[in-house]
Amino acid sequence: MSGKVSFDFSGTNVMVFGGTSGINLGIAESFARSGAHVSVVGRKADKAEAAAAQLADIAPEGVGAKFYTADVRDLEAVEAVYASHDADVGKVDVLVSGAAGNFPALFNQMSSNGFKAVVEIDLVGTFHVLRAGFEHLRGPGASVINISAPQAEIAMGLQSHVCAAKAGVDMVTKTLSIEWGAKGIRVNSVIPGPIDGTEGMARLAPTEQMRKAVINAVPLGRFGTPDDVAQTCLFLASDAGRYVSGAILPADGGWLAAGARLGF
Ligand code: COA
Repeated sequence: MSGKVSFDFSGTNVMVFGGTSGINLGIAESFARSGAHVSVVGRKADKAEAAAAQLADIAPEGVGAKFYTADVRDLEAVEAVYASHDADVGKVDVLVSGAAGNFPALFNQMSSNGFKAVVEIDLVGTFHVLRAGFEHLRGPGASVINISAPQAEIAMGLQSHVCAAKAGVDMVTKTLSIEWGAKGIRVNSVIPGPIDGTEGMARLAPTEQMRKAVINAVPLGRFGTPDDVAQTCLFLASDAGRYVSGAILPADGGWLAAGARLGF
């Protein structure tokens, strides 16, 4: 492959909500590896602390990493995280909103609470993270990335709650690209494809036969890695992405374009 790219985020502060595991931790790691000070926010303190320790090991000497705890459904808790981050670290250059919840359920068998739980984590949580975060962004120049899902763009059975919530997230992205663009802040969504080793993939494709079916549905012919998604985020947050805002960008090997089929 030609055109080798390496991003330099030294001197910047990155916050990743939901960055304590899976794809979001992969995004946090790639920013740390590129020199950024990274803070992760999760619901569970022990998991968040372990993630921050891992990030501090990756980050360049003396840069470090921090963790905070909040449930994104709780606006006051999210505000408290930003206040602490402001005092500990300072303004936010890159904000990644990635906290999400999911479970497979038929619409007719879902309770009101079940539907609400996902909408409140994915959509209302994104509202809280961005609404409370705005005043802490280093603007102009800050970059906001919402982690969306193929369900935002394409219907999937057993996923009516996620489809509704993530479609909402992408419309928030587009709306804020208008409202915040005027203030020099870019807002984009990234849609991860089927990423190997994640909780979601283990649940959606638990058998070897199902894994093969997913791979066959990806035009590039392989599962993605967390770093595949992270590199897209680094690009968006970097100077190379300076004219990109309001974009809904899949990092998925063409999976969504081909119908994002799971093989069943
Ligand atoms: N099937 C059907 N309904 C479910 C469910 C499932 N697998 N999991 C949760 N629910 C329902 C609950 O029954 C409850 O509704 P009820 O009060 O009518 O019974 C409602 O959702 C809230 O569930 P609860 O477990 O109390 O909520 P929570 O806030 O602790 O967690 C989730 C909600 C979505 C995070 C939880 O389902 C979960 O832990 N999912 C797996 C982890 C995950 O989502 N990882 C992210 C992958 S993208």
